[in-house]
Amino acid sequence: MIILKSERDLEAMRPACVVAGAVLDEVASFIQPGVTTRQVDEFAAACIKRHGGKSAFLGYRKYPCHTCISVNDEVVHGLANERVLRFGDIVSVDCGVLYKGFVGDTARTVAVGGCGVSAQRLMDVTEQALCEGIAQAVTGNRVTDISRAIQNYVERNGFNVVREFVGHGVGRTMHEEPQVPNYVDAKCNQKLRAGMTLAIEPMVNVGQPGVKILNDGWTVVTQDGSLSAHFEHTVLITEGEPEILTWPEQMPSRLKVS
Ligand code: MF3
Ligand code: CO
Ligand code: CO
Repeated sequence: MIILKSERDLEAMRPACVVAGAVLDEVASFIQPGVTTRQVDEFAAACIKRHGGKSAFLGYRKYPCHTCISVNDEVVHGLANERVLRFGDIVSVDCGVLYKGFVGDTARTVAVGGCGVSAQRLMDVTEQALCEGIAQAVTGNRVTDISRAIQNYVERNGFNVVREFVGHGVGRTMHEEPQVPNYVDAKCNQKLRAGMTLAIEPMVNVGQPGVKILNDGWTVVTQDGSLSAHFEHTVLITEGEPEILTWPEQMPSRLKVS
């Protein structure tokens, strides 16, 4: 069952998404060469607390950290540890915040200091793929229209989307129906309706789409060791333009959807 949000629900959900976006901004600017991923997670925990929220991840299926921090060939669900971030690494930070009863879910990949041109291209293509998907998040379309826009954009640019992990509805809990794959799946073809709130989140590999899970039971890495990037926004379907709840400022022109 897909839960449509009322205007009253949205009055509570918008601030939760604003907090998630604000925390992600702060964490992104904290990242620099020499910090450990544990320091990043602790910084994120302090930001979430200062905003009056709670991590939506900590304790979810026994997940042990406040955020997901995935470095280089790590795709998603990376666990904070003593790893020191180095200039040239790329880091995917995923931040889910529970605030006054609703969850905001947003992620971004950033370079540590700077990075090579292929890593930068991967990040640019993944972020733009998210925007292409968001542009399809309108009443009358179906979930597959979002999926197709993301998959086509990524593959046209020579990269591959991960199949094993998908976007999702989000609201009072982090994972609601429907699933929002980043590839066309005929089983995920629900009609989009105003009031649906979706976490759209392409995970993109430079190399092959395959992934595996490390022995820690969480960290997802590319099978071929290639770099991976992840961008995510929580988006509201309306009667008009999609509303990017975790990105309330205006979309920069370079990310205008085609
Ligand atoms: N943030 C992920 C998502 O975007 C879910 C993380 S679950 C956790 O759907 F347990 F790893 F935190
Ligand atoms: Co997320
Ligand atoms: Co998500």
